[in-house]
Amino acid sequence: MLPTVEKDTVVLQEAQRLYGLLANVSKTKAEKWTLADCLAAAPYTLAINRIKKEKKAVILAHSYTTPDLVYGVADFRGDSYELALKARESLAEVIVFAGVWFMAETAKILNPSKQVLIPAGKAGCTLADSMTGLQVQALRAKHPGVPAMCYINSSAEVKAACDVCVTSGNVFDIAQKMPGNELIFVPDMLMAENIEAELKRRGTPKKIISSGGSCCVHDKYRPADVEQLRLKYPGIKVVAHPECAPEVCRLCDYVGSTKGMVSYVASSSDKVFGMLTELGLVNRLEAEQPDKQFVWPFGMCSYMKKNSLINTLQALAEPRPEQQVSVDGIIAAQAKKSIEKMFELAI
Ligand code: 13P
Ligand code: SF4
Repeated sequence: MLPTVEKDTVVLQEAQRLYGLLANVSKTKAEKWTLADCLAAAPYTLAINRIKKEKKAVILAHSYTTPDLVYGVADFRGDSYELALKARESLAEVIVFAGVWFMAETAKILNPSKQVLIPAGKAGCTLADSMTGLQVQALRAKHPGVPAMCYINSSAEVKAACDVCVTSGNVFDIAQKMPGNELIFVPDMLMAENIEAELKRRGTPKKIISSGGSCCVHDKYRPADVEQLRLKYPGIKVVAHPECAPEVCRLCDYVGSTKGMVSYVASSSDKVFGMLTELGLVNRLEAEQPDKQFVWPFGMCSYMKKNSLINTLQALAEPRPEQQVSVDGIIAAQAKKSIEKMFELAI
């Protein structure tokens, strides 16, 4: 049975706490979070925070999940690199990962003795689902001796078939550190083009051999979106995630990871930013840097948004089989090597 939710004045206080954090945050393109939204969320955040303590659980939330999770119940919010580190060092008995499947799988690989739960169940990712471990092995067989690097947005099998894993925050630096003048990079074919361009710009060129797919959110941005933002908001700074196409990245003022974008905006004296990324990151900036204006043309990850307060409460109370993360031992051990190699090279 699910735990009962609070029905008294504590709820009102909790709603006010949430509203204090979310009043400036966009719920959709046209609406902000309201006190009524926070009143509806409050019984759940109270119940989740209570059961979280009872079960000695920690909640890690990717910035792309909804703000009621990010600000209402998460112990840590961040990008895939930051959350992988938090999962690896966690002393909690249960790790609840509000994110997509490959992120929760990475947490389990890094901290296998913990129970790892993902409220959204088998929430995919168009990148992680674009390639299998066998396909990586076949690609490597075609290019013997070429080191293989995978994006963290990949399955455990793909990680196990590669030498090193990277995230958007360290992809360029680690690619530069890899030996030789050729490098296999999977499964983001647009990011592969961005790596090749960035290494050329740094004067350390490499041929990048790639296969896989693209992110269904970031691959939708076109050069015309940047041009329209510049036309409508003269002086705007446009920032993009490196999962965007190279012809888009080329036109932007900053290209970087979720964390990189937060730092770029924080350290800038500019006031208006065009955000070629997922709504959740725009929400974080609205909450944390309210003196600035964020223009978000479009872009929402339906996989990330499968996490909700309701399924987080349910997963903590009575996890369904698809919410409990397990990884085959042999694959996990091999995948761990490529993730640990990233931590070593990211320094
Ligand atoms: P970050 O590594 O920047 O968190 O990105 C993960 C992701 O899925 C972006 O679409
Ligand atoms: Fe995957 Fe794109 Fe969603 Fe990130 S935003 S989880 S890359 S589908």
